[in-house]
Amino acid sequence: MTRIEVATPSRPYAVTIDAGAIERLARLLDELRAPERRFVVSSPLVWRLHGSLVARAINATEPILVPDGERFKQLATVTRIYDALVRANADRATTLITLGGGVIGDTAGFAAATYLRGVALVHVPTTLLAQVDSAIGGKVGVNHPLGKNLIGAFYQPHGVVVDPLVLGTLPRREFRAGLYEVIKYGMTSSAALFDRVGKERQAIFARAPETLTPVIAESCRIKAGVVAADEREAGPRRILNFGHTAGHAIESVTKYRRFRHGEAVGYGMLVAAEVATARGALADHDRQALADLIASLGPLPPIADIPAVQMIEAMQHDKKMVAGRLHFVLPTAIGATTIVDDVTEKEIGRALKRVGFKG
Ligand SMILES: NC(=O)c1ccc[n+]([C@@H]2O[C@H](COP(=O)([O-])OP(=O)(O)OC[C@H]3O[C@@H](n4cnc5c(N)ncnc54)[C@H](O)[C@@H]3O)[C@@H](O)[C@H]2O)c1
Ligand SMILES: [Zn+2]
Repeated sequence: MTRIEVATPSRPYAVTIDAGAIERLARLLDELRAPERRFVVSSPLVWRLHGSLVARAINATEPILVPDGERFKQLATVTRIYDALVRANADRATTLITLGGGVIGDTAGFAAATYLRGVALVHVPTTLLAQVDSAIGGKVGVNHPLGKNLIGAFYQPHGVVVDPLVLGTLPRREFRAGLYEVIKYGMTSSAALFDRVGKERQAIFARAPETLTPVIAESCRIKAGVVAADEREAGPRRILNFGHTAGHAIESVTKYRRFRHGEAVGYGMLVAAEVATARGALADHDRQALADLIASLGPLPPIADIPAVQMIEAMQHDKKMVAGRLHFVLPTAIGATTIVDDVTEKEIGRALKRVGFKG
């Protein structure tokens, strides 16, 4: 069993990573001092796949089931969760357990942050992306019709329980989408993690828990370290946005339909690496190593029809524009980055074209 402490000022908590952790969920919740009225929020699909295990482990009564597509990450879904809690007379001794991917975690997490001004929250993430990223750090929230993640809060959970075994049922594309975020951690913070993904690629895809556990743990350790140092993303936490400036633009230009978030980040990292190489900040062989590792996971959705100018326009609307300047996380080596705010449109345009966007 691996345990990682997330020492945020607002609430320190542990991420427990263990194959079969869900079977021991009741004991883990007791250890976390999670209040006794325990409600599970999940999606019909995830509950069908893994709910019986959870129900057996914690003697759960009826779960609160809500749809989990990105388009259901909205206030109406939060309201459905409130409704279920009110109907069940959920009081302050409530623990909300999220069982699902990032959409369930973010949406139900926001319900937990706001119901009765906050009840205990425990994440049991079931996608690779949620296990290495969204379940840690306390960002909860939903989309607004006019923009993604515009409504939300920082609300740290009481704990996070990661069971790599649940990834066995994850569609391959979703699994790969999570791996791009793992590569992101390697690029920003750990050459060892980067190398491990390359060397153990096949075993990782076979999803053997003994291979996955250290990969997930190292990713969680990196995120936990960054989040503890900068809970509200004022400074250092921004390095986790590596690949996300262009990544978010790809998602928005394609209306969130063509790419999984992680896939867009895959391209976004390549764009940032091209900018860095053109500036002489990153050696070309490091950029090539990143491109090779990303390519080795399999093909990404095509981008040749996406105009670079449209991408640039989307980046200018992104939340990472601070006082009119675009923050860009640039890699300087595998495992190291720098944040700059003076990247010109021309540089971005050139990088986009080199990665394959339409000129
Ligand atoms: N809070 C944060 O810090 C943070 C960080 C990164 C991303 N996010 C958010 O996370 C969301 C994306 O999360 P995601 O990639 O997990 O997507 P998701 O929650 O939509 O899940 C992807 C799909 O996988 C299915 N699924 C989940 N677990 C499964 C399992 N074990 N087996 C089979 N199918 C399973 C779901 O039903 C869904 O169809 C986005 O909304 C993004 O904004 C939040
Ligand atoms: Zn991301």
